[in-house]
Amino acid sequence: MASQPSRTAPPAKQANARPSAATPELPSAVPLMALSTGFWAFKTLAAAHELDLFSRLAGGAGITAAGLAEALGLHPRPAEMLLTGCAALGLLEKADGRYRNTPLSDAYLVRGKPYYFGGFVQMADKRLYAGWGRLAEALRTNRPTTWDPAVQSSIFDGEDPTMLALFWEAMHSLSTMTARKLGEAVELGRFRRLLDIGGGSGAYDIELCKQYGALRATVLDLPHVAAIAARKIAEAGLTDRIETAGGSFFEPLPKDHDVHLLSMILHDWDEAKNRALLRRSFEALPGGGAVVISELLVNDEKTGPAPAALMSLNMLIETEGRNYTPAEYSAWLEEAGFRHVETVWFDAPAANGAVIGRKP
Ligand SMILES: C[S@@+](CC[C@H](N)C(=O)[O-])C[C@H]1O[C@@H](n2cnc3c(N)ncnc32)[C@H](O)[C@@H]1O
Repeated sequence: MASQPSRTAPPAKQANARPSAATPELPSAVPLMALSTGFWAFKTLAAAHELDLFSRLAGGAGITAAGLAEALGLHPRPAEMLLTGCAALGLLEKADGRYRNTPLSDAYLVRGKPYYFGGFVQMADKRLYAGWGRLAEALRTNRPTTWDPAVQSSIFDGEDPTMLALFWEAMHSLSTMTARKLGEAVELGRFRRLLDIGGGSGAYDIELCKQYGALRATVLDLPHVAAIAARKIAEAGLTDRIETAGGSFFEPLPKDHDVHLLSMILHDWDEAKNRALLRRSFEALPGGGAVVISELLVNDEKTGPAPAALMSLNMLIETEGRNYTPAEYSAWLEEAGFRHVETVWFDAPAANGAVIGRKP
């Protein structure tokens, strides 16, 4: 007699069995792989930039893996892997066996181009990457990881000259294209004198004065930074229209400007300092003047967008600030006395919009 199957034994597995209605389909794990390896893409870009790949390929007839190996003294294996990786990331394209820059790498990763972005790539690699490696520590302690609060009072105080040079090249990279987009999105034609509060390298002033022929500007920043801006302004041939002022925005602001710009300033500081700075801006502006806050704005629901939300975490490892929302900025502006507050959206590396307040 054939033995009966035990009542507790599992049913034999059917070939090509499909999940039953009781076993829900799982979401794809592919997005997790992409998130977990995001740094692979970044490091490929950073290494290619460090080896000067894109500047080397600019305007040329392209390169083979063997040619790159010879030019850089690399083994052919990594040379081919680097070229393949850059092509996969949209940084190179291949035709007739040779790799060339794409429009993206040609416009932004070739040294000497007007909107060169390599300074930021370098800072992300040499400074931010290590700080982000200690993100969990920053989350636990609510303290930055790129500098020591026991030694410095803020990111802007002290630091070694190499890091400072890296920071300013990075800010200039990030800000030049953003300034162009800001100038296109926000109508500044009725203003005559811009005060760029914490204006850094002067990237905004240079771009905005190029766009608005009647505009004059002042870069207000710490004295050693104002000196960096003066050099950039001279290089741009705009010393007759842009001046620099060494000083602190924690002091009363100069009164002879009809528009103030705060680009990537308020995300560096806590709410109390920001509200006080906006009050100083209001006091210094004439009636009819305006303040423009340019930032990667977090949405009012605090669910994104990713560039702003991640920049906010970057502010955790670097500063006491965070990336704020249009609702938060609008409330502070109204409190300071500004009216007709509006948010204008645009798409740029260092800002996705501007919150504008007008002094009645
Ligand atoms: C993130 S950078 C932004 C630079 C510039 N606005 C841009 O978007 O390219 C912040 C700037 O604030 C400046 N800063 C920090 N503390 C300052 C202070 N007390 N007074 C004036 N500038 C200050 C820094 O030197 C730096 O240039």
